[in-house]
Amino acid sequence: MRRLAVRRGWSRSSPRPSTTLKNPSFRRSLALFRAFLHEQDEPESCYSLLARDAADQVEAYGGPVAGATVLDVGGGSGYFTAEFRRRGAHAFLFEPDMAELGEKPPDGTVVADGYLLPLRDGIADVTFSSNVLEHVADPETFLSELVRVTRPGGLIYVSFTNWLSPWGGHEWAPWHYFGAERARARYARRTGRPAKHTLGENLFAVHIGSTLRQVRARGDVTVVSARSRYWPFLAEAVVKAPGIREFATWNLLLILRRCPS
Ligand SMILES: C[S@@+](CC[C@H](N)C(=O)[O-])C[C@H]1O[C@@H](n2cnc3c(N)ncnc32)[C@H](O)[C@@H]1O
Repeated sequence: MRRLAVRRGWSRSSPRPSTTLKNPSFRRSLALFRAFLHEQDEPESCYSLLARDAADQVEAYGGPVAGATVLDVGGGSGYFTAEFRRRGAHAFLFEPDMAELGEKPPDGTVVADGYLLPLRDGIADVTFSSNVLEHVADPETFLSELVRVTRPGGLIYVSFTNWLSPWGGHEWAPWHYFGAERARARYARRTGRPAKHTLGENLFAVHIGSTLRQVRARGDVTVVSARSRYWPFLAEAVVKAPGIREFATWNLLLILRRCPS
């Protein structure tokens, strides 16, 4: 692994979230939705757009990432790492699954489990994890490791699709509302191939309410924002409505800031 450059000069201030993110637009949500529809046949353009959008979100809360040390944990084939590097960050991909890495992972990629990152405490300005939390059996421990490697004052970006989201069952959604096994079987019947995800093996029922209670109870982070990642309006309001939020948020985005030690 390349030695992780500890940034010099990345903003330690806490810029106000940009207006674009505070008032996300229909146009943005529509573009993301359209890209998702073509995820299978045009993964390159879908994930590049998603990566640009996520990097915009990080910058809206933490300022430009140029010069920052960014860790992309569970980053798959590295679209997000590539985008952070494009913006001048020292970005590194940590991914445990060789199959997810694809043929050409970014230079310096580390094959590592997010539960146990081979990094010293507080090395990162930004620790980034997109759509990984619902794929780990113990989200609380996973989150603790993200916090550990983030420096005091640094940002932690965590997003996940919660179980009761219309997309909670992933490729067998929305049939997961009728039971995971039934939904999996239906998927296999319809497509003629086995589903990628199995509940309890590589997909877990993570809920918004319990996740929020967990992060708010932590003494080592403050919750800067808890919002729907993709919604064009009421993105923060929807997360405040117990019950409804489990169905309506779709994907929860948490922006956390590590407390001074
Ligand atoms: C749905 S993919 C998300 C990939 C990428 N972050 C994105 O948003 O497109 C879930 C990723 O989580 C990774 N993952 C699963 N368990 C993990 C763990 N314990 N530590 C780190 N990554 C993990 C998987 O290998 C996979 O790449």
